[in-house]
Formats: sequence, C-alpha cells, structure tokens
Amino acid sequence: MVPILISDMYSNAMQTTSIYNTFGIPATADRYLVVSRETELTTLLSDPSFCQKPFLMLGGGSNMVFTHHFPGTVIHLENEGINLLDTSTSHDDLLVEAAAGEVWDDFVHHCIAQGWYGTENMVGIPGTVGAAPVQNIGAYGLEAKDIIHSVRAFEVGTGRERIFLNEECRFAYRNSIFKQELKDRYVVWSVTFRLHKTFQPNIRYQALADALATAGIATPTPQQLADTIAELRWRKLPRPEVMGSAGSFFKNPLVTSEKYHQLKSLYPDLVAYPAPDGYKLAAGWLIEHTGWKGRSMGRCGVYDKQALVLVNLGGCTGDEVVALAEAVTHDVQVKFGVTLEKEAIII
Ligand code: EPU
Repeated sequence: MVPILISDMYSNAMQTTSIYNTFGIPATADRYLVVSRETELTTLLSDPSFCQKPFLMLGGGSNMVFTHHFPGTVIHLENEGINLLDTSTSHDDLLVEAAAGEVWDDFVHHCIAQGWYGTENMVGIPGTVGAAPVQNIGAYGLEAKDIIHSVRAFEVGTGRERIFLNEECRFAYRNSIFKQELKDRYVVWSVTFRLHKTFQPNIRYQALADALATAGIATPTPQQLADTIAELRWRKLPRPEVMGSAGSFFKNPLVTSEKYHQLKSLYPDLVAYPAPDGYKLAAGWLIEHTGWKGRSMGRCGVYDKQALVLVNLGGCTGDEVVALAEAVTHDVQVKFGVTLEKEAIII
C-alpha cells in the first residue's frame, strides 16, 4: 500500500492505489488519502471538487468487502491523541476524548492502564476509534453507545464542526445516524467517552460469566476481565493476520416475539436474546443449522469455529464472498423464514 498524502491529491488524481482490508482482498481506488491534521480534513471537506466524487472513510478496513475498483477517494484518518477532559462531572465519571485515527484496541488497553474503566468488554475489536460510533461496535455485553458521551465530526461540503451528543447519534444495534440519515454527510474526527474511576466488572454476558467461573475468578481485576474476553474472542474469531475475514459477516436478526416462539417450538435449542420489540436470534446458530458451518464455495468459507464469520481461504475475491453470503442467506431464509442482513459493508 502506498498512501498518497493529502498534498498530492490533485497531482495524483488518476493514480490507483491498493486499499487495506482485513479480508485480504486485493482492492484499488482512484486515490487514497491519509489525513492526520484537522485543517487538512476541513480544507478537503469544503473543497467543491472533492464533494463531486464518491469518497469512502476507511478505519481499520475490518468491516469491508471490496468487489470492484472504488471510483473515488478513500480517506484514512491517522489523527492521534487520547486525552482526559474532565474529572468533575460527578464523583466517579471521567470524560476521555480519543482521536478517530487511534486503534480501538490500543485505546482500550490505554484506558485500563490509566485506571479509566468501562471499555474492557470491547477489548480486541479490530478497527479504529472513528468507526466505533458509526457502527456502534459491541461485544460481550457492551456496545459503544453505552459509553459514548459525544462525537465530534465535520460536515462534508462545508467542513463545519458539529458535536453530536449520545442521544443525537440514534444508536441502535450495529447502527447509528452516521450509517443512516447522515451517511456520507459527516466525518467523525474524535469521540468522547464517559468512563469511570471505579472498576465495576460487567459480566452479564453468559459465556463470559461461565469462562470466569471456570477459571475460578469470582471478582476479576480489569486486566483479568480483558484477558478472559480476549481469550474467548480469539477462540471463536480468526486473527486477521492469520486468516482474512470481516469479523461477524451478518447481524443477528431481530424478529417479532411471535416469530421467535414459532421457531422455538420447532427448534427448542434455538439461541436467542430478548430485544426491544421482539428477539435477537443468534445468526451463527441459524447458519450452523443449515449445515454451512465449515463449508466453502470457491475460495471463501464459513468459519468452522463461528458460523457468523466468512473467511478468506486464500486468494478469495469480493465476488466470491458475496456469492457465498447469498447462498447462506438463501438457505437460512428457506429453512427458518428469517432474512439475514449483512453487517459487513460491500463496496
Ligand atoms: N452459535 C452457534 N453456532 C455458531 C456460532 C454461534 O450455535 O457457529 C451460538 C453460540 O453457541 C452462542 C450464540 O450463538 O450461544 C452467540 O454466539 P457468540 O457468543 O459467539 O456471539 P454472536 O452473537 O455470534 C456477537 C457479535 C460479535 C461479538 C460476540 C460476542 C454480532 C453480529 N456479532 O456474535 O461481534 O464478538 O457477539 O459478544 O452481533 C463483530 O461484530 O464483528 C463481532 C465479532
């Protein structure tokens, strides 16, 4: 990958450069810009010629599947900084602002080391801080929305700053205003988290509670909690450096209570969680019970340890990923009458 710096953007308008993505799919775009200063971003976003062509914000490339050349500009933010803003909001709260370009997992470890608690359950998630509010990332009983205080972003077209308070972000399961109404309208520049001075382990996720019990840990330290989660995580998910994937390829589908009870009577071991307006079904369970787990089509496979994950078996293309995803979705639909929705973004 040869990133083109922002100062080269006009002179290299026709240059093609490959794009980093954890699926390991060869992909190119007209331009790839690395932006690390606020003034670079605001200049870019207020430039009318920039706004005429498509652009794509790329964090860690951990949730994207490229099926063709991207005919526009890929922007990768590399702004840095994790700063404690305010300790006085209440006796226990801390506001910590992190730059969008920071690596999410480094941010989690930094918080633990500083004694700023609340991020631990999301240890090990690939990607950057800037992607966290867009995607409302989550794992092991915690979602980004639970700890985000506000998001600082710049408007495409004007370069104007706007602060979005948590409730303005319209967070939902793997969703936010930045993926919906304001898609491609704002670029997230930093995120402020509400963390705590006192550590209170969140062990609501059953698999986590079970793992701690098995290890004989009744009251984990922050590091023990993070280590146990990382252990659980890597037991089920392929490490990007070993096998390409986009993490969970599908979302866990939300269904009505009626649909859930109908399925549960047919399949008593169906895994599901109560959700607002119904139930969230474990898509991994549904896929496994269509027989796809561990199977492949072309050079793309359904991971044998977690059926929610599609993996690159070596030299896989974006089209092969899409073909496998469609076959899996079709079979889940036919067998269970449930429509799977992709979590990964297909470009
Ligand atoms: N299951 C199966 N077969 C499978 C996979 C899962 O039966 O092949 C069952 C498991 O036995 C378990 C249930 O499904 O009872 C849930 O599985 P798991 O705990 O692995 O979680 P998940 O719902 O499949 C979600 C997130 C993950 C996150 C984990 C842990 C989504 C789309 N995925 O997966 O997030 O790490 O919970 O909290 O919500 C990601 O988004 O990239 C991601 C990895």
